[in-house]
Amino acid sequence: MEQQFEGKIAIITGAASGIGYTVAHHLASRGARVIGVDLSDSVGALMAELPGKGHHGIARNLTAPEAAGEIVEETIRVAGVPHILVNSAGVALLDAAVDVPAARWQATIDINLSASFYMAQAAGRVMVDAGYGRIINLASQAAVIGLDQHAAYCASKAAIVGLTHVLSLEWAPKGVTVNAVSPTVVETPLGKKAWAGEKGEKAKREIPVGRFAQPEEVASLIGYLASDNAAMITGSNVLIDGGFTTV
Ligand SMILES: NC(=O)c1ccc[n+]([C@@H]2O[C@H](COP(=O)([O-])OP(=O)(O)OC[C@H]3O[C@@H](n4cnc5c(N)ncnc54)[C@H](O)[C@@H]3O)[C@@H](O)[C@H]2O)c1
Repeated sequence: MEQQFEGKIAIITGAASGIGYTVAHHLASRGARVIGVDLSDSVGALMAELPGKGHHGIARNLTAPEAAGEIVEETIRVAGVPHILVNSAGVALLDAAVDVPAARWQATIDINLSASFYMAQAAGRVMVDAGYGRIINLASQAAVIGLDQHAAYCASKAAIVGLTHVLSLEWAPKGVTVNAVSPTVVETPLGKKAWAGEKGEKAKREIPVGRFAQPEEVASLIGYLASDNAAMITGSNVLIDGGFTTV
């Protein structure tokens, strides 16, 4: 396999599951050294088993405001200045808008939006100084369309796209690109839980390609945006939705 990411250091949040884990595997298979971060203690063992050497897991709750700076410091200590950041940690807490409890609203914003910002800010500081960086934020089709029971989720993901626009224009002159990726439902633990049963079958029928996305499809898009070849793409929100938001 082409060692496209040889010598690159990648921080990936949400690396113990779903899209984050699949991106970690994709980049590690192509030569990157991966620093995976997750709430789950399993992240250390999962990173140790990735292809290649020198991967490192950090079990951490990213909603602690001081976490991002400490994670970037630990990355520099164990591996070096990061070249790539993928913000994949997130939750989907679904409630009818009239019923959203304040705690679930806040929990959604804290991880989906604030933690992504703090990680981008902490990594962006050292990337700007180094003159190179690739930051990819997981948004969602929910960033550009409304979905039933997704008030907090849609709001958090639309905000990610706004944040991506600002970071991209501030850091483009410094060699740091910042993009968002917006999948339709992806068959991960989060996607399967949120779209179980007839609700999911109906949603598939409404997607022009007739199915949900696979984590590997999202990982290969993120791999492209994380590569040297994608230097001219910044500030984009790339939809990977089987045509759903165009109909
Ligand atoms: N699966 C989908 O259908 C889908 C669609 C569009 C966008 N997304 C987005 O992609 C991202 C990844 O989703 P996924 O499907 O892989 O989810 P997942 O549930 O499989 O994985 C998410 C990971 O984030 C971690 N995490 C959650 N809260 C955390 C915290 N406070 N601190 C540290 N880690 C934390 C979890 O432990 C988990 O390992 C999310 O941002 C999600 O909103 C998912």
